[in-house]
Formats: sequence, C-alpha cells, structure tokens
Amino acid sequence: EKAGHRHFMMKEIAEQPTVIGNVIEAHVAPDHARVDMGLPGVDFAQVNRVSIVACGTAYYAALVAKYWFERIAGLPAEVDIASEFRYRDPILPPGTLAIFVSQSGETADTLAALRYAKGKAAKVVSLVNSPESSIARESDIAVPIHAGVEVSVASTKAFTCMLTTFLTMTLRAAEDRGTMSGEEIAATIADLRSLPGLVSHALSADAAIHAVAAQLAKARDVLFLGRGQMFPLALEGALKLKEISYIHAEGYPSGELKHGPIALVDRDTPVVVLAPHDRLFDKTVSNMQEVMARGGKVLLIADNRAIAEVGNDVWTSIAMPDAPEILQPILYAVPAQLLAYHTAIAKGTDVDQPRNLAKSVTVE
Ligand code: M6R
Repeated sequence: EKAGHRHFMMKEIAEQPTVIGNVIEAHVAPDHARVDMGLPGVDFAQVNRVSIVACGTAYYAALVAKYWFERIAGLPAEVDIASEFRYRDPILPPGTLAIFVSQSGETADTLAALRYAKGKAAKVVSLVNSPESSIARESDIAVPIHAGVEVSVASTKAFTCMLTTFLTMTLRAAEDRGTMSGEEIAATIADLRSLPGLVSHALSADAAIHAVAAQLAKARDVLFLGRGQMFPLALEGALKLKEISYIHAEGYPSGELKHGPIALVDRDTPVVVLAPHDRLFDKTVSNMQEVMARGGKVLLIADNRAIAEVGNDVWTSIAMPDAPEILQPILYAVPAQLLAYHTAIAKGTDVDQPRNLAKSVTVE
C-alpha cells in the first residue's frame, strides 16, 4: 500500500510528478492553447475580487494564489484563515468570487466559512480533493485537485495539486480579463507542461537533503525565509517541519527579518532560505548576509545561477533545476517536504501520524 516506501508521506511526495501531470491534463484544453477547467457561469471579467479561505497548508496554497491572481490576472485577491474569516463579519462586496480550499473537504472552520459566504458572494467555488465531501457538495462549483487519496497527516501532494489548480485558474482569469494574450497563455501552458519533469528533477535532491537532515535534527529552532511568491513556501516549510519533527520553526518574509526574528539568530539556528534567482534575489541575498554576519547557518535552496553566485558563502546549499518563475512555488515545495521528512526520520518521530494531529479537522 505504501508502494515500497517506508511511509505514506514519502510515497505521496514521490507521486507528485504524476498527480501534477493529471491536474494539467484535466484543466488544459487538448490543443494546449487554453485552459478548460469547467467553471460554468464564471466570467472573471465580471469578477471584482476573489476572496480565498482555507486552513493550514491549504491556506498557504491560497497565499501563493494571491500573488498570481494579482500579477497575472490583475485581479484583487484576499486570503483568510477560515477560523478568523468566520468570526469577523467579513465584507464580500458585489462581484466577489469566494474560493474555499480543502484537501479533505470536511474541515469544520472552512465549511462554516463557506456557509457564511453563501448568498453573500457572487459565486462560491471550492478547490477540493474529495468530490464527495461536504465542502464540494455545498459549493456552487467544486473544482477537483486530482491529488488522489492522501493518507499522511502532513499534506504534500495536495498542496502542489492545489497550487497547480490555482495556476490554471489564474490563466483562465487572465484570458477572461485580457491581461495575457493568447500566445502568452499558450507559452505559459507549455511551461506548465514541463512541471512534472521539473518536479521529478527536484526529487533527486533527496540524497543531498537526507545528508543535511542529521544536522537540522539537532536544532531547537529553525527559521525559513522567502520573498514574494516564495514567502508562503517559507510558511509551508516551517509548518511541515514543526508538524512532523516537533522542531520549533517559523516562516518569515525575508524583509521582515530585521523587524524581530533576527534576534533569534545564532550559531545553533539554521536558517532555510528559499531563493531562486528571481526578480527579488538580490534583496534576499542581503537578508542572507545579515543572517551570516550574526553567525547564522544558512541552508540555501536555490537554482544553479543563485548557487553559482552565493553558494560558496553559505553553510550548505541544495540545488533545484532552473525553472520559469511562475512555477517556482510549486517546485520548491518538494525540497521543503523532503527536509521535514528526513529531519523527522533523524529524530525518530512518527512521520505519518504525528502526535496531537488528525488528518481531517472536523471540529473547530
Ligand atoms: O483538509 P484541509 O485541506 O481542509 O486541511 C487543512 C489543514 O488542516 C491541513 O492542511 C493541515 O495544516 C495539514 N496537516 C498540513 O500538513
């Protein structure tokens, strides 16, 4: 049942090239020129704002989607944690498309938030892994994320399938709103179709990550830093690590470092920096230097160009394949997952069933 793997978590990490490929196949037209994902009655040109609500890892997927909706489709996007949204009388102005994201489709707070939005939002859409779930049934449109059954409490493939689904949805929004030309959309779909191969390539960092995990397992605290669309990946990396290895970890936007968390940095605090050579790379490098100047140990996860520039200065680096910028949040989920996985093994924790946690949180 674990397909030769020791844990469901590793099986599910390894399945990502396949399931991401399934998402792309399901949501892209056969001619690969357009998105065709079944959003009946949704015209993003008529939408003024998307409001996305979720918990945990699904919330972090939504945070990445915010960057994409705004940058690619010029569409204002708001993201809320479900347990906050449902109790704060949120305002859903006319033309709001409300989106609820959930692997299980049964998360109590997300379901309650959905019920609040019904009748107030123009449309209620969900991104779910279980088409039979309460959240799927109660939404106007349920978009399947095609991850297949996820057993491990730590969510992995559901996260990358949520992201891939959000990316196709954003392209559909860009098409409706005319913020991308047909050629640009086709070119981005071509990039997207290279994603399963890139994710396979990222999986080959497994041995390098395994090698560094014994060191990480000794840490009491770990910081994760990222900027822009990589910031939510820092949050996700920290959640994954704390969830299964019980090491205290925090994710921060790199630029926030000097507003507080840098006080934590010392020789014993590894700082994981997720920094592909993107438009914000130079800014992130200067944050990294601030960490190193205080004796912090930087574990850099980056592409070849970034590692060529700064790899010699850091404690250790993990190489990711070069990839189109838009795909990087999906790709960099893989090393974040592997880091948590191997650190948990080094600590001897119960990877698939971490203490105090349930796979599906059906009580608030
Ligand atoms: O089933 P859902 O996607 O609604 O679950 C939301 C969170 O409970 C879930 O993502 C949780 O944070 C995971 N254990 C993270 O690995």
